[in-house]
Amino acid sequence: MVERKSDQPKNLKQLVPKGVEAQSAGSRPTDFTDHAPPSLAALNIRDARLQQVFAGLEHAWAFEFLDSDNLIITEKDARMSVLKLSTGQLQQLRGLPRIAISKVQTGLLDVALHPRFASNRRLYFSYVAPDHSGRYFTTAVATAILQDLALTDVQDIVRLQPYGWSPSNFGGALAFDDAGYLYVSIGDRSEQMIAQDGSSLAGKILRLHDDGRVPEDNPHVDDPLIDARIYALGVRNPQGLHYDVASGLLIESEHGPMGGDEINLIRAGHNYGWPLISYGQNYTLEGIGLNPQQADNDMTRLHFLTHPDAQIGAGEALPGMQQPLFYYLPSRATSPLLLYRGSMFPEWDGDLLVGMLKGQHVSKLDFAIDHLSIRSEHAMLGELKDRVRDIKTAQDGSLFVLTQNRGLWRLYRQHDNQDAAVVDTSNPGQIVYRNVCTGCHDDGVGGAPMLGNKQDWQSILQQDTATTYNHTLDGYGNMPARGLCNLCTDEQVTAAVDYMLKKAVNSD
Ligand code: HEC
Repeated sequence: MVERKSDQPKNLKQLVPKGVEAQSAGSRPTDFTDHAPPSLAALNIRDARLQQVFAGLEHAWAFEFLDSDNLIITEKDARMSVLKLSTGQLQQLRGLPRIAISKVQTGLLDVALHPRFASNRRLYFSYVAPDHSGRYFTTAVATAILQDLALTDVQDIVRLQPYGWSPSNFGGALAFDDAGYLYVSIGDRSEQMIAQDGSSLAGKILRLHDDGRVPEDNPHVDDPLIDARIYALGVRNPQGLHYDVASGLLIESEHGPMGGDEINLIRAGHNYGWPLISYGQNYTLEGIGLNPQQADNDMTRLHFLTHPDAQIGAGEALPGMQQPLFYYLPSRATSPLLLYRGSMFPEWDGDLLVGMLKGQHVSKLDFAIDHLSIRSEHAMLGELKDRVRDIKTAQDGSLFVLTQNRGLWRLYRQHDNQDAAVVDTSNPGQIVYRNVCTGCHDDGVGGAPMLGNKQDWQSILQQDTATTYNHTLDGYGNMPARGLCNLCTDEQVTAAVDYMLKKAVNSD
């Protein structure tokens, strides 16, 4: 965070990052005005802009692109809708089955399209199904045909048995691979050890034909003690599944207990260890800030009280059990993830982008795909200031991020940038500017004077150039010393200042 040194306090409105635009012109999301100084996270994404695409969603959960202009979006409280990007129109679909929405984690969950959706209009969705009394729940997956604004031919293809009273750990992530198999993640339903029980689908990753049948080459088809739908076991509450066609990797993200959220590479027949191994600790009532007297009913109370308040299982590793590709300690509550393959941010090719609920950002994992290891982790898009529920790449390579209550956002690069196209190699000031200063000064992030905007530069042009150099080298207000470039020499920084001053004079 940048220390503020200038004398006059800034008008908070000026701190609204200008790269962050609300959908309607002139109106910005109001709560951006109260975080000062602005998050610098976006600066790590050169020339990128973040735009709110749509705001009117409530507890959004997941989305998919139907085509380049239409998205299908799920909201937890049993709403599935089609959003048309070009008009901003959200239209709710009819025909959902009965869905439990009474508890924090119950509701409509993920949505996925059949690989041939364009011709067969078939989609899949996961949800929490109530029993007839409405007091017991289970994870279900259904398929349906999208016809105009209705779901028709709705059929369950998975329904975990038996129903349970736990209102949590449903899992429910869906992903297709390039051969047309459907993968489904199911949470442990707070029963922990059931994740190691081959006769139950809880705490498992399933692999199915598109109609729910068992593929003949599933890893346990010959074992009478294991449900043949099981592809991998020992997972806790996986809410992210992503299949990367280029590498053939199936990647999962799951909520650990207190600490120990995991990213796993899912392989046939592998055991991911929960609850025998984990990097986390169990929640206790106090740990989750719940007073036993206030638990909303006996079932919830019992559910938490039966959790042993102790280190889980045998620690962090056991023979025959898979280690995560990456884990987060303390946990940030991982939601969905993707392996980025878009063209707009070529520097991210093959990186993992993981949404964070509690963390309220996107975690970028630099993935060394040849070695199947993570080189580094970096939090970005803290500007979203909300739980990140889903992330998808659009056809043009821009990134769409769905937040729980602050709508849908698009991170993109503008290619019509004033002089991004013409870099004059004989102008060192311009080169430094394009490499270091552009993130703030192109768009006026945090009140930075915009390149070529005469009005912004008026008072600066009136002061002594030496003062301007010193402000730039030492930092001034929200301007960080050297524009955060510690490797830049004084000459390089002042050359960039000269370039900016010249742009200000010559602009109109
Ligand atoms: C993290 C965002 C950020 C980066 C990166 C950044 N600036 Fe700034 N810059 C600012 C902000 C904000 C101000 C306005 C400061 C104020 O008036 O409080 C500013 C102000 C300035 C000013 C006017 C100073 C004055 O005397 O009023 C100059 C010149 C400047 N920046 C040059 C640069 C150069 C050159 C670079 C790249 C080497 C750079 N900046 C990179 C945010 C940034």
